[in-house]
Amino acid sequence: MARILLTGGAGFIGSHTAVALLGRGHDVVLADNFSNASRSVPARLKDITGVDCPVHEVDIRNTQAMQAVLAGGAFDAVIHFAALKAVGESEANPLLYFDVNVAGTLSLLTAMRHAGIGRIVFSSSATVYGAPEHCPIAEAAPLHATNIYGRTKLIMEDMIGDLVRTGMLSTAFLLRYFNPVGAHPSGLIGEDPRGVPANLMPYLCQVAAGQRDCLTVFGDDYPTPDGTGVRDYLHVMDLAEAHCAAVEVALGTYGTHAVNLGTGTGYSVLDLLHTFERATGLAIPYRIGPRRPGDAPSCYADPTLAKAMLGWTAKRTLHDMCQDSWHWQSLSAKARQAAEHGGSQAPTTAGAQLLA
Ligand SMILES: NC(=O)c1ccc[n+]([C@@H]2O[C@H](COP(=O)([O-])OP(=O)(O)OC[C@H]3O[C@@H](n4cnc5c(N)ncnc54)[C@H](O)[C@@H]3O)[C@@H](O)[C@H]2O)c1
Repeated sequence: MARILLTGGAGFIGSHTAVALLGRGHDVVLADNFSNASRSVPARLKDITGVDCPVHEVDIRNTQAMQAVLAGGAFDAVIHFAALKAVGESEANPLLYFDVNVAGTLSLLTAMRHAGIGRIVFSSSATVYGAPEHCPIAEAAPLHATNIYGRTKLIMEDMIGDLVRTGMLSTAFLLRYFNPVGAHPSGLIGEDPRGVPANLMPYLCQVAAGQRDCLTVFGDDYPTPDGTGVRDYLHVMDLAEAHCAAVEVALGTYGTHAVNLGTGTGYSVLDLLHTFERATGLAIPYRIGPRRPGDAPSCYADPTLAKAMLGWTAKRTLHDMCQDSWHWQSLSAKARQAAEHGGSQAPTTAGAQLLA
């Protein structure tokens, strides 16, 4: 069993990965500055797993603090989730993204060197493929940044790869996620975006919960079966299990390995919307808007390498993703309403209409 530090471990993907790692008997320690996570996450992890994970409230850019966390920990590996991830925000504030993502990673790597930790599993993204020429996308496809967020992921991949090449690190997995959605089936943890969600599933859930009026579908004239954009949606618990496999393989291997994590199947916006309606029994109001600049028509993974290297394939269906996302969203909406009504019984009607 390994002892693993999760930077950004209280966030969406980090918290689900903590559950999966604990379920496999690993020791997990979280490091997070809670800039995009609730302080209730560690207690919720305990409710799900029965394990009290140690938590360090720390900013990865604080190298001394990270050295203190790592030096005392006897860690076998680090899984590095901590980052900012909103494409629009990255274009509006590039310095912030270079600071948190790139300088933050440099700081973490410096602290890892100080502590003699040589294995890292890094949260990369399908965004490193830019506007892909062909689908499914294999790891050998050309890399290209179309925005600052993507640029930071490419820089971080290169930095980590160079440190493996020059011997400072022994092993790195660069995990390129496609579109993680869903939530733990308990409904206790899930994606909790602050402000207006930039991604489709959280927006859809907020429309279903009555927090927003209507979903805008950006473009219905793409060269796809129904004209709407096609993406590779992946259940976050499948993604979490891929991290367990990557850490376990990393303990016995050397070198840098870039690996796609997706199902290999593309679904359109309307496929997702109608599956969500079937899974929840709710009708979702939507309208068609113009295309968003920079959106690719289709983007889905070739997951062959993940199966070969990690023995991993995604198991959960689009229906599971919708059901679990909604379960999480409806429980947290009820908790919010109860808090607003001074702890009184939360109303049970959702904002979207029940399907006949
Ligand atoms: N969710 C996606 O759709 C997606 C897709 C591809 C890649 N990724 C990558 O996966 C990783 C995790 O994403 P997520 O969806 O769980 O995001 P998230 O925002 O839920 O989690 C990131 C966590 O990092 C923490 N954090 C941010 N800056 C920090 C700092 N300076 N110091 C310490 N902690 C800090 C946040 O508080 C949060 O808990 C990110 O690197 C993201 O770029 C996410």
